Amino acid sequence: MADATVNDRLDAIRMLTSVVRDGKSLGDLLRARQQSLNVHDAARLQELTYGAIRWSYRLDAIVNELLDKPLRNKDTDVKVLLWQALYEMLYMRTPDYAVVNSYAALTRNLKKNWARALVNGSLRTFLRTREDLLERVDANTPARHSLPVWFYDAVIADWGKEKAEAVFAAGNQKAPLVLRVNQQKLSRDEYMTRLEAAGIEASFPVLGNHAVVVQGGSRIDTLPGFEAGHFSVQDSAAQLAAELVSPAGGERVLDACAAPGGKTGHLLELAPDIDLLALDNDKRRLQRVNENLSRLNLSVQMQCADASAIQQWWDGREFEAVLLDAPCSALGVVRRHPDIRRLRRHTDIDNLTGLQRQLLDTLWTTVARGGRLVYATCSVLKRENEEVIAAFLADTADASELNIDADWGLACSHGRQILPGQHDSDGFYYAILQKR
Ligand SMILES: C[S@@+](CC[C@H](N)C(=O)[O-])C[C@H]1O[C@@H](n2cnc3c(N)ncnc32)[C@H](O)[C@@H]1O
Repeated sequence: MADATVNDRLDAIRMLTSVVRDGKSLGDLLRARQQSLNVHDAARLQELTYGAIRWSYRLDAIVNELLDKPLRNKDTDVKVLLWQALYEMLYMRTPDYAVVNSYAALTRNLKKNWARALVNGSLRTFLRTREDLLERVDANTPARHSLPVWFYDAVIADWGKEKAEAVFAAGNQKAPLVLRVNQQKLSRDEYMTRLEAAGIEASFPVLGNHAVVVQGGSRIDTLPGFEAGHFSVQDSAAQLAAELVSPAGGERVLDACAAPGGKTGHLLELAPDIDLLALDNDKRRLQRVNENLSRLNLSVQMQCADASAIQQWWDGREFEAVLLDAPCSALGVVRRHPDIRRLRRHTDIDNLTGLQRQLLDTLWTTVARGGRLVYATCSVLKRENEEVIAAFLADTADASELNIDADWGLACSHGRQILPGQHDSDGFYYAILQKR
C-alpha cells in the first residue's frame, strides 16, 4: 500500500475526532467519504482510521507519557493527530522522520499552529526513548491490548485469563472479508469457481453453510456478481442466526431488530415464501434493509416501531418463529468495528440488559404455542447472554430452552457462545426458546 497522503491524514484526523469527541460511528463516516474515492485511496483511509482507533488505547497511553499535561477536550484533534502519527510509525512502518515532519505540518491545516512544536517535540521524544517507553506502557495489560479497563476486567471475570487473552488478541486482528452466497442464485461451489476465474483467492470458513472468505483487500462492489445480488457481506458467525431460525416455507416469521437487514436477507434466501415482517425502531437503518434486499432481488414487509411497544405494530397474528437479534454492547465484533471500544461505556451495559429483557418479554407474547424464538447478540458478556436467558426462563412458565446441537462455540449454562477468534469468526451468542 502506498504511503498516506496529506489528504488521507487530514480526512482521517477529522473522522477520528468525530468518533472520539462526538460519538459518531466510524463505519458511517467512512462509508460516506469512500463513495468519492478510488479503491486504493479508500483502502488507505480505512487502514489509517481503523488502525489508529483499534490501537487508540495503547497509543493514548504513549501520548500520556509524552505530554506534560493532558490536552483539552477542544484539542481532541491534536490528540488524534498524535495517535495517527504513532500508528504510522509503529504499525504501518512509514519512515519515522517523514511522519514527524508531515504530522507537525498538519497542525497548520487544523488551524492549530501552536501545536506544531508540541507535536514535533513529542514525536521526537518518542523516537529517542521508544524502547523504554513502550516497555512502560505495555506493562499495563489493558493498554497493551488497547482496551478500556472495564472491558478488559469484564471479559476476564466471565471467561478466565486464558480465554480472555485469546479474545483480546482476536479483537486486535483485522477482520476477514466474509461473504454469504445467495443460494437462490447459485451454490457456494459455483460462486467459488467464479472467484477463481476472476483470480481472487478464497476459501470456505468453518462456520456458515453458505460462507466464503475472500483473501486480500477486495472492495465488495468489484467482486463478481455484486450487482446481480449473488452475495452479501456477513461474518460466518452471524450467518448462524438464520440457520438456527431454520424457517420453513409458509411460516409466519418476525425479524424483530432487523436493520440493516443482514439476517433478513438470509432468512428469505433460506425460505423465500415465508410471511416475514422486518421490524426496527431506527428509520434510517431500516432504509438500508430496503437497499440491501433490492440488490438481492428480495422484498419484505417492513415496519418502523419500538418492538417493545407492541400496540404500535402487532396485528395480533402470532409468529411461528421470531428472531431477536438484540441491541447489545457489540463487544464481540470489535475487530470488525474497532470504534466500539471507544464508543461503548461501562454504564451502557445495565441499560442494554434491561432493554434485552424487555424485548424478550414483549416479543414472547407474539410467539405461537410450539413456536420458537432465537435470541442472538454479538456480545461476549454473560450478563447480556446466558444471564438474560436464565432470568427469562425462571420467570416465564411457558418457555423452555431448545438445545443447540452443535460443535461450534462453547456450551453455556443456557445457549452457546462463540468467542471472537474461535473458528476465525466474530463473537456471537445464540439461544433458542420454545413456547409450550
Ligand atoms: C444487532 S442490530 C441488528 C442487526 C440486524 N439484525 C442485521 O443482521 O443486519 C440491533 C438493531 O436493533 C434495533 N433496535 C434497538 N432497539 C429497538 C427496539 N426497541 N425496537 C426495535 N428495534 C430496536 C437497532 O436499531 C438495530 O438496528
